[in-house]
Amino acid sequence: MQKDLRKKTKYLMTPGPVEISPRTLRALSLPVTHHYDPEFITFFQDTTEKLQRIFQTKKDLIIMQGEAVLGLEAAVANILNRGDRVLVLDNGPYGAWFGIYVENHGGEVVRLREDYTKAIAPEKVKKKLEDEKDIKAITVVHMDTPVGITNPVEKICALAKQFDILTIVDSVAALGGMEIRPDEWNIDICICGSQKCLSCPPALTPISVSTRAWEAMENKKNPLRNTYLSMLDYRETWIKSRTFPFTPFVSEIYAINEAATEILEEGLENIFARHKKVARAIREAVQAIGLELWPESEEIASETVTTVCIPDGIDDERLRRTMADEYGVLIAGEVTGFESKIIRIGHMGYSATIDNALVAITALEKALQKLGFQVKIGSGVERVLHYV
Ligand SMILES: Cc1ncc(COP(=O)(O)O)c(C=O)c1O
Repeated sequence: MQKDLRKKTKYLMTPGPVEISPRTLRALSLPVTHHYDPEFITFFQDTTEKLQRIFQTKKDLIIMQGEAVLGLEAAVANILNRGDRVLVLDNGPYGAWFGIYVENHGGEVVRLREDYTKAIAPEKVKKKLEDEKDIKAITVVHMDTPVGITNPVEKICALAKQFDILTIVDSVAALGGMEIRPDEWNIDICICGSQKCLSCPPALTPISVSTRAWEAMENKKNPLRNTYLSMLDYRETWIKSRTFPFTPFVSEIYAINEAATEILEEGLENIFARHKKVARAIREAVQAIGLELWPESEEIASETVTTVCIPDGIDDERLRRTMADEYGVLIAGEVTGFESKIIRIGHMGYSATIDNALVAITALEKALQKLGFQVKIGSGVERVLHYV
């Protein structure tokens, strides 16, 4: 008989979705209430405030309902007029895909393409901004999971400020695991995703929005209203009158509130330190095993996912299947449309523990050995043990 899909993964080490804590799972199972019950309104307010603390922002925060791509597309759709020029920073698939959203919504893409093993250099952004005219906004991915590379968002957004350009930051896979400060860093629209470092199911997209961004949305020729993509609808309802544009996902709000409570109890500084530690342990371990990291250098490697090159002769699909079927450890491969021969070990949110790292690296060593790769069993695990 086929194993129950919902029970066979013991260790979810993918770059999202990630493991969910027992407390958050319990919150998901509580009875659904009516969204205009005054207590739910208070609860929703509490949820928003907790997320603002995790975002480290005093800006408005809306919780869009849908997977994080909704937020990426909405950010672009809400501010662009036909023909507006957008500088798209492209050093990974999500960076590139921003260009599609821009074009879909009538904008003109000015692309700064970088090799997918490198971070975007602020000097190159500066040069581009000097060379190009009339750029309205810049899009940048904080950490592009298919390549596992962190971009210098703070420096890039500081440059945007000098040129008076709106900034849209995809921090879907970093916020809640890595430092980001929308207020100090001049981020106009900062997008997160519930299924990554917040350790919830995929469903919600919290976004912080600056006054400048709201103004750009209001000043758009035909402001985007009465559509699922509208951010202004959230402002007109929740922010102005504590109503909703449509029924909120009650259970998901229970979950994200509980997850946010847990994050704040642990403390952001502790969480960032935990992610750093687990990331370092995994990077050292895979290199001790004899594998190569995908990013050009460790300085730009993500703290929430590690991307590793697959050695010649090893079938990455079989490697991942062996880890999953024989050891219950699920990691990820390359994303569709980006053929790279890499595996991706996620260490985000609730999954980012040294215990999980130990199991993942043990499974990786054993699976590689089974597939004929010369590996000294224990070489990687020993590195992780230094961090216990
Ligand atoms: C940088 C980034 N942005 C957005 C997303 C959300 O996209 P998807 O619908 O593919 O999960 C992801 C998911 O991996 C991501 O890594």
